[in-house]
Amino acid sequence: MNTRNAQIHGGRTHSLRVLAVPGSLRDGSYNRALVRAACELAPDSVLVEPYDVAEIPFYDEDVEAAGDPEPVSRFKRAIDRADALLIATPEYNAGPSGVLKNALDWASRPPRTSVLAGKPVAIMGASPSRGGTARAQAQLALVLESTGAAIVPNGQLRVAHASAKFDDTDVPTLADNETRHALRTLLEALHRAVDAAGTAIPGPDSHQAGITDPSTSMPEPAAA
Ligand SMILES: Cc1cc2nc3c(=O)[nH]c(=O)nc-3n(C[C@H](O)[C@H](O)[C@H](O)COP(=O)(O)O)c2cc1C
Repeated sequence: MNTRNAQIHGGRTHSLRVLAVPGSLRDGSYNRALVRAACELAPDSVLVEPYDVAEIPFYDEDVEAAGDPEPVSRFKRAIDRADALLIATPEYNAGPSGVLKNALDWASRPPRTSVLAGKPVAIMGASPSRGGTARAQAQLALVLESTGAAIVPNGQLRVAHASAKFDDTDVPTLADNETRHALRTLLEALHRAVDAAGTAIPGPDSHQAGITDPSTSMPEPAAA
């Protein structure tokens, strides 16, 4: 059992604490709904905590030089406290959302020693198209690898044809059983990978930009 962050929450002891970050700001977002589903479907041993990046300002090196704005410091602390990250990315013009990339750019500082270095990460994403955010996830994987974060084995989930997988309400809920199962499997893979950290997950040194070949290190995402 991973005891680094073991804690009691609602009367249950969790051995893994996961920070879940949706990359969409809209209320009716499928990706925010995916994060809610992850909170609901997590095994008892896993605590999934959603994190909203809406308040993080645009990255500006001058602002950073004067000191991280409070929403940035808060985000970095939340990542640091978590055993792992779970990111839900929308796909906009074949890439991840700007708000998500912006938040990760802040979190990636200072380079090499940031809170992302060595952090285990799983990626998921939902879109109405048949690709299920495959292109956004591929770009996001490159971004994460350059920060030194460690995408876990079997740590990607694509949710295609999202309008058929979520119920049709203003605040959607993941209704498709196969996708719910795939999401639970993703969380289990994340838990296994963190427990095996040090052997299964390469450290930050092997993930420095230019050292890792993303074409060979990126796991094939599961599709739902
Ligand atoms: C500017 C823009 C670009 C988009 N580009 C893509 C795309 O390249 N691929 C895709 O599958 N969906 C694309 N979409 C559709 C989004 O996947 C869809 O709006 C999705 O619901 C957004 O995620 P969310 O539901 O979490 O907000 C695009 C939407 C917008 C607004």
